[in-house]
Amino acid sequence: MRRAAFAVAAGAMAVSLAACGSAKESGDKSDGGKKAAKGGDITVGLLLPENKTARYEKFDRPLIEKKISELTNGKAKVEYNNARQDANLQAQQVDTMITNKVDVLIVDAVDAKAIQNSVQKAVDAGIKVVAYDRLAEGPISAYTSFDNTQVGKTQGEALLKALGAKATKSSKIVMINGSVTDPNAAQFKKGAHSVLDGKVTIAKEYDTKEWSPDNANSEMEAAISAVGKKNIAGVYSANDGMAGGIITALKAAGLSVPVTGQDAELAGVQRIVTGDQYMSVYKPYAPEAEAAAEMAVALAQGKSLDSVAKDKVSSGSQKDVPAVLVPVTSLTKANIKDTVIKDGVYTADEICAGKYKAACEKLGLNK
Ligand code: BGC
Repeated sequence: MRRAAFAVAAGAMAVSLAACGSAKESGDKSDGGKKAAKGGDITVGLLLPENKTARYEKFDRPLIEKKISELTNGKAKVEYNNARQDANLQAQQVDTMITNKVDVLIVDAVDAKAIQNSVQKAVDAGIKVVAYDRLAEGPISAYTSFDNTQVGKTQGEALLKALGAKATKSSKIVMINGSVTDPNAAQFKKGAHSVLDGKVTIAKEYDTKEWSPDNANSEMEAAISAVGKKNIAGVYSANDGMAGGIITALKAAGLSVPVTGQDAELAGVQRIVTGDQYMSVYKPYAPEAEAAAEMAVALAQGKSLDSVAKDKVSSGSQKDVPAVLVPVTSLTKANIKDTVIKDGVYTADEICAGKYKAACEKLGLNK
């Protein structure tokens, strides 16, 4: 439903953007007003933060590239790079984009604060910046993401639901959060705490360097020895990648407790099918990616963002940034069909391949 509604809205946006093709340049002084308005013949720089979490290469990149191509009749070029969790490398990648004179930049920052310098450099070179998913500091022109505090609340609520009668103050849970360099991680954490605090005891809590599944695995092992395996009622994991590492540690200790996640990664959905993971947060990447593409193309062409960006956000350094924030859904065994399968993110065959066949049959997924 939501996806369909968004597709219609996105279609309307494309029409309205095309319709205002002759709109005047948006106060951009970088070219002294001399440069002719750009058509489809633009270059968009796209920088994503890491490749251990599946979403970036599997969804974000191809979806953004596809939409940019659609919006420009295949005329635009996309220059892509992935920072592999290295903030210094990402700064170099921005420099390269500036040297190559891209028309606009879409950046998902490894480190939202450290990127500020690079955003400023790009803007000084006349290149507008769209912050993607993570709210980069600095003079960005637009932002697209999800309601990230709501993601954390959704995770916390699902964990309480999974604990059921065990959701009491004497129940101990472990919280494994994302990276401190990612402002989203702070919002997920805040949202989750707002739901869990006072309802259960948070026996151990970690911020995980680089969102790394291996680091999450070590944190879980440490929590098991510190808290005692019999005393752990559930685990808050901020995303599916880390949930993978956490569940490996739990299994090694012979433990099976509810674990949360986020991203609806294929491996995460498969763990939900088998019952190893309780939930994930389904964030439909298409509307997020498409909004980024719409805004980047509009900015490169000097058009207004008004028809696309209905929200506004503020970062530590920038007020009232035009934004698109996409709603999220809690994903459990109960709604795999109505979410990721219905939206065409995965086919039932993909989810139910090989060893997942029997568990899928029990859920009626491969019928
Ligand atoms: C994203 C998540 C992702 C995490 C690790 C966050 O900023 O919103 O979807 O799992 O980074 O890359």
